[in-house]
Amino acid sequence: PKITYVAPDGAEYAVDAPVGSTVMENAVKHMVPGIEAECGGACSCATCHVYVDDAWTDRVGPPEPMEEDMLDFAFDVRPTSRLSCQIKVKPELDGLVVRIPERQA
Ligand code: FES
Repeated sequence: PKITYVAPDGAEYAVDAPVGSTVMENAVKHMVPGIEAECGGACSCATCHVYVDDAWTDRVGPPEPMEEDMLDFAFDVRPTSRLSCQIKVKPELDGLVVRIPERQA
């Protein structure tokens, strides 16, 4: 599935993401700026924070309670905020667009 990361300056990074990987892993692999992922995907750093594009929030779904707690540590959290290490790539997410926050923790 294809995922597009949109940087705060509008730059777009489109990548081919394998099913079963996470949105965070693909950002790191393709060196998308702004996804630090300091904890390596353990849901304990909040530096992989992204905003899910409005058109995709239903298909991506809401955060789990543990993720929600961690999101409290992210900057400028919005209703569409997710930790990208907790979003698993699935065929239904082909074309997914996520936006990178201005600033990470
Ligand atoms: Fe640390 Fe997602 S990589 S919370």
